[in-house]
Amino acid sequence: MGNPNKPKAQRGLMRWVDERFPATQLWQDHLSRYYAPRNFNFWYFFGSLALLVLVNQIITGIWLTMSFTPTAEGAFDSVEYIMRDVEWGWLIRYLHTTGASAFFVVIYLHMFRGLLYGSYKAPRELVWVFGMAIYLALMAEAFMGYLLPWGQMSYWGAQVITSLFSAIPAIGPGLAEWIRGDYLVTGITLNRFFALHVVALPIVILALVVLHIVALHEVGSNNPDGIEIKDKTDGNGKPLDGIPFHPYYTVKDLVGVAVFLFVFCVVVFYFPEGGGYFIEKPNFEPADPLQTPDHIAPVWYFTPFYAILRGVTFSVFGLEAKFLGVVCMGLAIGLLFVLPWLDRSPVRSMRYKGWISRVMLGLFVVCFSVLGVLGVLPSTETRTTIAQVCTLGYFAYFLLMPFYTRLEKTRPVPERVTD
Ligand code: HEM
Repeated sequence: MGNPNKPKAQRGLMRWVDERFPATQLWQDHLSRYYAPRNFNFWYFFGSLALLVLVNQIITGIWLTMSFTPTAEGAFDSVEYIMRDVEWGWLIRYLHTTGASAFFVVIYLHMFRGLLYGSYKAPRELVWVFGMAIYLALMAEAFMGYLLPWGQMSYWGAQVITSLFSAIPAIGPGLAEWIRGDYLVTGITLNRFFALHVVALPIVILALVVLHIVALHEVGSNNPDGIEIKDKTDGNGKPLDGIPFHPYYTVKDLVGVAVFLFVFCVVVFYFPEGGGYFIEKPNFEPADPLQTPDHIAPVWYFTPFYAILRGVTFSVFGLEAKFLGVVCMGLAIGLLFVLPWLDRSPVRSMRYKGWISRVMLGLFVVCFSVLGVLGVLPSTETRTTIAQVCTLGYFAYFLLMPFYTRLEKTRPVPERVTD
């Protein structure tokens, strides 16, 4: 009959279930007896909000799929059909398109919290690495989803990004063709992106989210002070500074959910295209392989990396500028993966790190934001120079981290969490 010490409900249906499936145990381990630090603040809303947006994307995505035609001939018209004829189709589509942007807003704030409080540091390296894998999968998911409405920007965006692969020496052109399934972006590309967007990547993302949370619950949550609450326990092993996740944080998170839904609904109902940033204007025209739009730019959440790519205008050792741009872009994301091993500070939270860490984090945020703005705009000579300076700032944050985090003077960390 399995482990006799497993928690079981005393009687009734739950006892019957518990004898066959560890429902009560899972509930206790992950909610009612998962002790989270009692000093969570605003920044700790974004994990549960990311879960909420993920559920929104999956549900609205399923409903969109019911009326969407994944062919070059039918895709654009089927989206118009969803917008005009399908009952509540406009709302389902706007919840999905605005949801994509909301996902990245929430994820960027969630990641920033990690940088602020050193949540990536030991023993939470895997929580961070799984998070980064989610981020990568999410970028692929958003990129492939953007091709589906088969508008001008869908088409040309996919054309530009897939042709980046052709910059890789030797294997590049073949690789780009393999990804597209054709010499150019065609209905074949649309078909495979559809399959990946609605089936493969959602499964990968869901699996990674499970790994992310299992890893987090194995080591326990960090907190704004960056103190390990498991180090100070009462006689029963319960952390002195911990409170059960349920009901305390399930209820607190509802406040975040209410505020988020309020802002989200204002955008969905009044500014669904986000001024051309959530759905770009050329995407209201059907894809035309013979006519390039005046200005091709990816959606806002990719633009910092796009600006890094475009900022590389020179070739080195005979390597093409375009290839070096792709390498820099890859490196910009790759460095985020290895962040846990770059930070050598004895403390986790920015509250107790020294002034250099604070300045560098500020510099990173400014550079990332400026790159984001530049990536939306057509490039000029001045803008390219600014992008190059910001790219240096971006890389400096990571590459100098092993030095400044070790050298700077930190402040004493309190024994117990502060309110
Ligand atoms: C679908 C996307 C994601 C979901 C649903 C998700 C969900 C969550 C949840 C529910 C938590 C616990 C609550 C909280 O601490 O806010 C959490 C914690 C965490 N997440 Fe994520 N996450 C996602 C993506 C990411 C990404 C992209 C990263 C970073 C690369 C990341 C890094 C972290 C870290 C470091 C923690 C621990 C924070 C701490 O204890 O201070 N997550 N995540």
